[in-house]
Amino acid sequence: MRLISPSVLSADFGRLNEEVDIINRSEADFLHVDVMDGVFVPNISFGFPVMKALKARSQKPLDVHLMIVSPEKYVERFCDAGAWSVGFHLEAVDDPMPALQLIRNKGVRTCLTVNPDIDIHRLDPYLGEVDMVLIMSVFAGFGGQSFIPETLGRVRYIRSEIDRRGLDTLIEVDGGINTKNAKDVFDAGADVLVAGSAVFQASDPLKAVQMMKHG
Ligand code: DX5
Ligand code: ZN
Repeated sequence: MRLISPSVLSADFGRLNEEVDIINRSEADFLHVDVMDGVFVPNISFGFPVMKALKARSQKPLDVHLMIVSPEKYVERFCDAGAWSVGFHLEAVDDPMPALQLIRNKGVRTCLTVNPDIDIHRLDPYLGEVDMVLIMSVFAGFGGQSFIPETLGRVRYIRSEIDRRGLDTLIEVDGGINTKNAKDVFDAGADVLVAGSAVFQASDPLKAVQMMKHG
């Protein structure tokens, strides 16, 4: 699959509705919602009020990426706020299963995420437990960073594991993705590409989405 999830983190928050409308008009498949708590990552983005505004305006499903400690305390509220999927970092918890169960109980799709320095094999036991895995291609915390090329090998490994086991778990990749490298990331086996600055800072965001999806 070749799906695109523009990250609203790179949008102009002073004109959020207009920015969401651009994504509504685009060929994007999701809107990616980056929630940062200033503890798990050294940055703070936004929380429920902004999530609510996005839900009210977006015609695309909301793909929520929680970069927070204790995700089990908040996942249900993001489900109730209208998330299509809720993901959190494996390295933020001792055991991901309780928070995954809370999300599943709400009928929302589950996602587990790992930063670039986390042993990719730590995802192995959960590939059959989640709807999607999110492989970070930059260190979570900020938009506008450069894609870490070693990510491609990690994506290929997870693709081979998912295929070998006959699973339908989606692979999402997030960070530093642009119109130039999107094809390589899809070719490595990704299903969903997150792109923030490459969409919202583009002179023609609709074209940027189109190029990543079909290029
Ligand atoms: C980083 C976020 C990403 C980020 C992507 O912590 O999870 O979703 O917004 O932005 P770009 O595409 O600019 O790297
Ligand atoms: Zn993200």
